[in-house]
Amino acid sequence: MVKVAPSVLSANFAELKKDLDSIKESGADWIHYDVMDGHFVPNISFGYSILNDISQVTDLYLDVHLMISHPIQYVEQFIKAHASSITFHVEAMESEEQIRELIQIVHSQGIDVGISIKPQTSVQDIEKYLEDVDLVLVMSVEPGFGGQPFQKEAVDKIQQLSQLKEKYDFLIEVDGGINAQTGLLCRDAGVDVLVAGSYIFHAEDRKKAIDSLK
Ligand code: DX5
Ligand code: ZN
Repeated sequence: MVKVAPSVLSANFAELKKDLDSIKESGADWIHYDVMDGHFVPNISFGYSILNDISQVTDLYLDVHLMISHPIQYVEQFIKAHASSITFHVEAMESEEQIRELIQIVHSQGIDVGISIKPQTSVQDIEKYLEDVDLVLVMSVEPGFGGQPFQKEAVDKIQQLSQLKEKYDFLIEVDGGINAQTGLLCRDAGVDVLVAGSYIFHAEDRKKAIDSLK
């Protein structure tokens, strides 16, 4: 069965504990934590201190999605703040050497590492890293904002990655515009983890929304 990872970008931060409890009771598997720096993406969200606070009040897996430039500079702070996995964007990296260094830093701390691709980046661009990562995050919107419509090209990428899982061992995650319909397209293509922000947090019945993705 797929895992569902609600994105707290769409939560109400004045009522965060209540929202975290509600998604856990509704069947969430992971918490997806979107970090935005106003540089790699044109929006600012939150950093490692709030992640640390969240880690004190939940036992769910903390799936950290870094949409930031210079992730090597900040990664240790997110690990200290109890990230369960760190996913970085290949487009934020300057060289293959840097990418390998970042993967090594995360793995040396016993944390899972993911690599993410924006809609314009192809699976071929990251194929050489697949044997070293635990997760590939396919963006089905331009990163930066919740509530955007799903871009169907992501489905082809999930299919391609699904075939590559015969050779390598990693999870496929998709993020952006996920609801019952687009979630089904991704499940049929072989996705393992569905991220959903607005669809879950703005639902009248969060349990029903999460159930509809599984
Ligand atoms: C977008 C973020 C997403 C966002 C998804 O850049 O990476 O995780 O929260 O939000 P929805 O599900 O509303 O598209
Ligand atoms: Zn995300």
